[in-house]
Amino acid sequence: MKSVLITGCSSGIGYHVALGLQQRGYRVLASARNANDVAMLQAQGLEACQLDLDSSESIHTAMDWVEQQTDGELYALFNNGAYGQPGAIEDLSRDVLRQQLETNLLGWHELTCRVLPLMRRQGYGRIIQNSSVLGLITLRFRGAYNTSKFAIEGYTDTLRQELADTDIHISLIEPGPVTSKFRENAYQRFLDNIDIPNSPFRSTYEAVQKRLGNNQDSNDPFTLGPEAVLNKVVHALESKRPKARYYVTIPTYLFGYLRRILPTRALDWILLRVSTSENK
Ligand SMILES: NC(=O)c1ccc[n+]([C@@H]2O[C@H](COP(=O)([O-])OP(=O)(O)OC[C@H]3O[C@@H](n4cnc5c(N)ncnc54)[C@H](OP(=O)(O)O)[C@@H]3O)[C@@H](O)[C@H]2O)c1
Repeated sequence: MKSVLITGCSSGIGYHVALGLQQRGYRVLASARNANDVAMLQAQGLEACQLDLDSSESIHTAMDWVEQQTDGELYALFNNGAYGQPGAIEDLSRDVLRQQLETNLLGWHELTCRVLPLMRRQGYGRIIQNSSVLGLITLRFRGAYNTSKFAIEGYTDTLRQELADTDIHISLIEPGPVTSKFRENAYQRFLDNIDIPNSPFRSTYEAVQKRLGNNQDSNDPFTLGPEAVLNKVVHALESKRPKARYYVTIPTYLFGYLRRILPTRALDWILLRVSTSENK
């Protein structure tokens, strides 16, 4: 049985991939940052532990548990746990931006560095990074999240080159809109961390609030279920030659293509219209 460690399994993609891989015969080590979610995962028949990406201690305690459970063998790591901090760049305090990078970049880094010696020792492994279409193109008011996902793209491309002479493969998944608790969680961060009444974007923020609060994106015809991500994770785990990047959803294919062919100003023109129309 091949073992796979997954972060952020309390909801959405992580939860679905954990159950899907277990059904496929993997030994899934599902993690979540809150104890009640760990209990919920255990009740679903998963081996589960607490792992908060913001805490070095939590990462190392979780990895001690993983090594104990698996006798130091781990086939794959699915770096998935993350959140989106909405808000214009100029409305992000240093602390709010730092927090976004703590979770979405530095937590992934620390966990990956803890897993890599184990994979080098066993001589093989797979690391799968749940990035985003917003690691390929940018949209207004997603600057913090864009920054974290662009960083993951550069990080992963570098790591792939550094692992080129090993049998450890690293892949990026690039989902567009997928049903999960992502927007609900982002909305809460928006309310908690952005000074909406005093922003130069106050009037646009009212529309952003309406969109995130009503969870309107789930009615978007381009939104896919989390099984679309599961299919790509399975390929990245099982293919002899996993891809460097897996696109998920039509928006990813479309924007991935436009990014390659258009000059920056032309791409800006399109992306500005996309964000204006979604925040009407
Ligand atoms: N849904 C989309 O449209 C979409 C599109 C592109 C990429 N993605 C990516 O998909 C991944 C999963 O997101 P999702 O869509 O499934 O959203 P979600 O339902 O909000 O799930 C996010 C997961 O990350 C966890 N998380 C947040 N902060 C954490 C921390 N400090 N330590 C450990 N776990 C933490 C959350 O735990 P809590 O419940 O404790 O907060 C939750 O389990 C993310 O990397 C996201 O960037 C999603």
